[in-house]
Amino acid sequence: MNINVDSDLCSQCGVCSKVCPMGIIDPADEVQLPRVHEGMDAVCLSCGHCEAFCPSGALTFTDMGDKTHESVISKGAISPENLGLFLKSRRSIRTYKPTEVPYATIESILDIVRYAPSGGNSQLVEWLVIHDPRVVRNIAEQTIDWEREVAKSSLPMAPRASAMVAAWDKGTDVICRGAPHIILALMAEDKVMAMGDVITGDAIIALTHFEIAAQAFGIGACWARVLLIASQNRSSLLEYLNLPEGRRIVNAMLFGYPQYAPQFIPRRNPPHVTWR
Ligand SMILES: Cc1cc2nc3c(=O)[nH]c(=O)nc-3n(C[C@H](O)[C@H](O)[C@H](O)COP(=O)(O)O)c2cc1C
Ligand code: SF4
Ligand code: SF4
Repeated sequence: MNINVDSDLCSQCGVCSKVCPMGIIDPADEVQLPRVHEGMDAVCLSCGHCEAFCPSGALTFTDMGDKTHESVISKGAISPENLGLFLKSRRSIRTYKPTEVPYATIESILDIVRYAPSGGNSQLVEWLVIHDPRVVRNIAEQTIDWEREVAKSSLPMAPRASAMVAAWDKGTDVICRGAPHIILALMAEDKVMAMGDVITGDAIIALTHFEIAAQAFGIGACWARVLLIASQNRSSLLEYLNLPEGRRIVNAMLFGYPQYAPQFIPRRNPPHVTWR
């Protein structure tokens, strides 16, 4: 992968370094423009956030085949163009303002989300909203404790866990990303046992609706797979979460007000379609 930075446009604001989910962009200094840390190319997700969030249009991420580079211009009535622009401008948010989202706003989002499709219209997804940022921080701490154990193990995910622990110890919240809130999609344990993937997919659909609807309220979100896996493997964390009786966590998402807004839509692969 490669990033190019136009020295005439770069204001050395540091946003690209802050939004990179893998933390691999070294910020500009007296002698160099922002650059990918040596030897870290392989860790790049090709997410294009460095390009999308650059406020000056100075940074180009050159790894994707798609050369289009649309600007985020406006919201509006839902024409196909506007809806496309709205959906394409959604990004996973990993830097948040500490400002809390009001309960009423979360309720408004969930009121939209309840119209998400579900298998057989079963509508089995329930929600646990962790609204208190101190509890969110505590959850992140417990998750990183689990990552420390994984890092010392011979599990295949040990190297990734080590990298996360190292980043955490340097002060970066790689678990909850400083988000003030977490939303957990829950389902009844007996239904999950009986129907498995047939219904757990509904939670992913519902959370996807949540992320999209939240965007209309100026709220950003990010899937929290690490937290999800920790909750499935560390009983003390599960106890701390204190789920309603007979419920299981099916998926998890962070949310809050984004610290930075994307200015561009990053490149993505073209659709891979087989026509018959
Ligand atoms: C099921 C799922 C799980 C994910 N888990 C995480 C996660 O644990 N941490 C994280 O930072 N991003 C997570 N992501 C976000 C992806 O990294 C992100 O969607 C991808 O890099 C593309 O970026 P975009 O969402 O901004 O287009 C997850 C996404 C999905 C769909
Ligand atoms: S975000 Fe853009 S302007 Fe800011 S330091 Fe990175 S390349 Fe330069
Ligand atoms: S494409 Fe994503 S992971 Fe790669 S350097 Fe840019 S922000 Fe970081």
